[in-house]
Formats: sequence, structure tokens, C-alpha cells
Amino acid sequence: MSTLNTAVAQEMDKSDEAELPAGESRPAETVIEEGATVGAPYADDPKFKLRDVEVFYGEDRAIKNISLDIARNEVIAFIGPSGCGKSTFLRCLNRMNDSIDICRVKGSLQLDDQDLYDPKRDVVELRARVGMVFQKPNPFPKSIYDNVAYGPRIHGLANRKSDLDDIVESSLRKAGLWEEVKDRLDATATGMSGGQQQRLCIARAIAVSPEVVLMDEPCSALDPIATAKVEELIAELSESYTIVIVTHSMQQAARVSHRTAYFHLGHLVEVNDTNKVFTSPEHELTESYITGRFG
Ligand SMILES: Nc1ncnc2c1ncn2[C@@H]1O[C@H](COP(=O)(O)OP(=O)(O)OP(=O)(O)O)[C@@H](O)[C@H]1O
Ligand SMILES: [Mg+2]
Repeated sequence: MSTLNTAVAQEMDKSDEAELPAGESRPAETVIEEGATVGAPYADDPKFKLRDVEVFYGEDRAIKNISLDIARNEVIAFIGPSGCGKSTFLRCLNRMNDSIDICRVKGSLQLDDQDLYDPKRDVVELRARVGMVFQKPNPFPKSIYDNVAYGPRIHGLANRKSDLDDIVESSLRKAGLWEEVKDRLDATATGMSGGQQQRLCIARAIAVSPEVVLMDEPCSALDPIATAKVEELIAELSESYTIVIVTHSMQQAARVSHRTAYFHLGHLVEVNDTNKVFTSPEHELTESYITGRFG
């Protein structure tokens, strides 16, 4: 077990040892049954169909037999204590784990009914369809224009300069950044504020017209104003894209997502409509987490 997971387990042990107020009984012992996710993990018309997924780092099993559908055009939030496997599971969805030598992914993972891990699959094309925005904004040390034009150029999406200009403008507009940067498209992106850089990275991700955007704690380095802008953007993007967002902010999960998935020590404990997760969670561990008993 990793240090992080050990810390979480110790935290839970501590809260179990705590004195209970007179008259209150201790809840029945919490058991996580492998693969037995409670709630509504499946969808009628899934964009991703994920079955019996396990992820290993060397000998360590970081993801334990998870099955989940991600519906078309839904926003699903992944929540859970640090080290529970949210980023690992997210990275399976566009094969970002491929670049980690010791990482092995098992199970059946399908995107639009096609095997994501088919060795014949073009991973560059996959990552254009399933884009990713990271925790720390990572613009290229290029101009604002070139950052957004990068993907369309390598994927040959624009034949003429005017087509490329259109893609750059519309992506920046969708990312809520056009008005702020339209007069300095040649300025270097690394000179922008953190919130602007993050919206630029979102513009860069959507410039190739992805079908899915994966976001791993996209607001954790942003102030509340920049966070609000990114959240508005997620709401707008959800009209045309499938969005998977990892967040440590339960308020954020509640504000932006349709369904919420609660991870714990590599298990997927509960998936339900976001309202239900935050008002009447089915699993005891979900309840403990959202009421702040650990995490
Ligand atoms: N590159 C790696 N090599 C080895 N182990 C890893 C690697 N990345 C993650 N792990 C392990 O896999 C487990 C899940 O980690 P992961 O980063 O997916 O958790 P997380 O839920 O995203 O946590 P956080 O909220 O802190 O970002 C942890 O035990 C972690 O130590
Ligand atoms: Mg993470």
C-alpha cells in the first residue's frame, strides 16, 4: 500500500477510534466489496464503456476492478481522497498512462464501442478526440496564437491561413479569452496570468474539436474569479462535449457535474446523480467523505 493510501486508512482508523457521543451507535463496519459499485454506474448510450478495469504500477494495484459508463455529453466528476486513483483512472481514458513505463492497464475499455487499447489504434488521433487539461497550466513557450493553432496544424485541420485564424478565434471565444487577448495574439503565452493560461490550455484542447475533454483538477491553481470563469466554460462546453473532471472541491463537483463518482483506495465506491451524492449518498464511505470525516 502506498504512503498516501496508508495515510487515508490511518485517518479512517482514527475517526473510528474517536469517542462517540452518548446514545449514538457506531455504523456497521464499512466493507468495500471489489467491483461492487453502488448507485448508477451505467448509461444507455455510453461514450466510454469501461469494464473490470485494473491498473498496476509494477506490483501495486492502483485501480481495483472498476466498471463504469461515461455517457455522451455528460459532465462527470471524479472525487475522493488523495491517492485513491482518480488521476490514474482518468489517464486511462486517453492512454496517457502509456507513457509511464511501469504502468499496466487491464480490462475492457471502449470508446464508441471500439477498443481503446487496440495496438493498431493511432494514439495521436485518440488524444485529439480525447483532449486533456492538466492541473498546472502548461502553455507552450510560443505565442498565444501558436498555442491554439498547434493542434489544428499538426492534424492538418486548416488548409488556409484564414481557416486557421477562424479556428483560433472561435476556440479562444469558447474559452472565454478572446476579448482579453485579441489584440496581443503574438505575445508569448507564458506571460499571461495563471487563469488566462489555464483558459488558453482549454482553448488549445478544444481547437482540434475533441469529443471528450478530460480535466485533472483544472482550477486548483486558480483564484475564485478565474475558477468561476472555467466553471462557466465547463457548463457551455458540456453542450457539445463529454467532460470528465477530477476535483478536490465538492462545491465545484456539485456546481458543474451531472453525475459524481466517488473513489476510495482504488475502488469505485459510488456513482450517482450529483444531487443525490451530495444530499443522500448511498454508501457510508461516500457519506463520510462528503461530510468531511476524512480526505
Ligand atoms: N507514476 C506512478 N508511479 C507509481 N505509482 C503511482 C504513479 N502515479 C500514481 N501512483 C500511485 O497510484 C495511486 C493512485 O494515485 P493517483 O495519482 O491516481 O491518485 P489521485 O486520486 O489522483 O490523488 P490526488 O488527489 O493526490 O491527485 C497512489 O497510490 C499513487 O502513489
Ligand atoms: Mg490526482
